[in-house]
Amino acid sequence: MKLAVVGGGSTYTPELIDGFARLRDTLPIEELVLVDPAAERLELVGGLARRIFAKQGHPGKVTTTANLEAGVAGADAVLLQLRIGGQAARNQDETWPLECGCVGQETTGAGGLAKALRTVPVVLDIAERVRRAAPDAWIIDFTNPVGIVTRALLQAGHKAVGLCNVAIGFQRKFAALLDVAPGEVHLDHVGLNHLTWERGVRLGGPGGEDLLPKLLAEHGDAIAEDIRLPRVILDRLGVVPSYYLRYFYAHDEVVREQKIKPSRASEVAAMEKQLLEMYGDPKLDEKPELLSKRGGAFYSEAAVALASSLLRNTGDIQVVNTYNNGTLPFLPDDAVIEVPATVDGSGTTPLPVAPLDPLYAGLIANVTAYEDLALEAAIHGGRDRVFKALLSHPLIGQYEYAEALTDSLVAHNREHLAWA
Ligand code: G6P
Ligand code: MN
Repeated sequence: MKLAVVGGGSTYTPELIDGFARLRDTLPIEELVLVDPAAERLELVGGLARRIFAKQGHPGKVTTTANLEAGVAGADAVLLQLRIGGQAARNQDETWPLECGCVGQETTGAGGLAKALRTVPVVLDIAERVRRAAPDAWIIDFTNPVGIVTRALLQAGHKAVGLCNVAIGFQRKFAALLDVAPGEVHLDHVGLNHLTWERGVRLGGPGGEDLLPKLLAEHGDAIAEDIRLPRVILDRLGVVPSYYLRYFYAHDEVVREQKIKPSRASEVAAMEKQLLEMYGDPKLDEKPELLSKRGGAFYSEAAVALASSLLRNTGDIQVVNTYNNGTLPFLPDDAVIEVPATVDGSGTTPLPVAPLDPLYAGLIANVTAYEDLALEAAIHGGRDRVFKALLSHPLIGQYEYAEALTDSLVAHNREHLAWA
């Protein structure tokens, strides 16, 4: 089995490698190729990757290349984990929306749109080249904004599945609180990428007993603290929103915080510098503790599980980003949703979802419409399309803000936008 990671020079990669090494029975990789144009980073990350494999006695070979076609040729799966413009561009996404009193975030609101505009054309180009070099390969997309990027890939006819670590994070957390194995915990996870709610926590599988009421009663404070929302919201709704819902439910509070705090991008940039120094140490042969301060916890386990289901035709259940196809009846079939799905060699089939309360359906429908307009803007460009996408976003919605944010978005992203 051959896997390629595009964006393999990311400081996140050792997280992935650690998972591949530990879970080699689930996913027996013979060759892992890290593809990245940043030669220096790739060298550092590739060196550590080899040491991690060697330490864990993994027989697979790790190679590195800047050549995409060569790297992905003959791959069974290609993971995409890019950040166009790096932390510098992310820092902008997190900063200029604040001038309008809007949240500064790399996947939510105006910053998320900027990221989509920078990213979609690049990812589509990469996917096209992957299709030519490895026509049968599955594309597993971890590149944000995952919902929009996955929709772009599927629309272009690629064999793609979008992946995020939010669901597996909850699964692991709830399993620990319940003192059961993570595989025993099935989440009634529903929504769009970075806009999801856990409506049930079932033991043993989709039909199992729902332990969410018990979890909320016994561990409500800890769960609320984790997602940084008041416990009373969880108790009142009887669901656990992902921490990305804080940008909606506590929008103004977040903006106030962001205005006085250093951006996440600046924190991450500092961590990345330190991490790269560590990766250069030939004695380091495991993922460093510092990596756990990044948001990607369990990303590797989710990626291994998904790749294994796709490549080994397991037919088990994974939370994925995929076409709606009637699962949420109030959305178009070609909307991309994030739900549990059966995954096998032919792809993903969402499990049926119980009817959604208007409280969630309304926001999901609104953000889906935004994602649709965002993708139009990312593919065809143009100030008017950007404006419409911003106007449609539930966190923006007013023409004065949409105008000002359009100007800022274009001004800060000109070098990444072919049409600007
Ligand atoms: C979570 C999200 C990812 C996001 C990451 C950011 O893992 O699911 O989509 O990229 O957080 O983490 P960072 O450490 O870069 O802030
Ligand atoms: Mn994510």
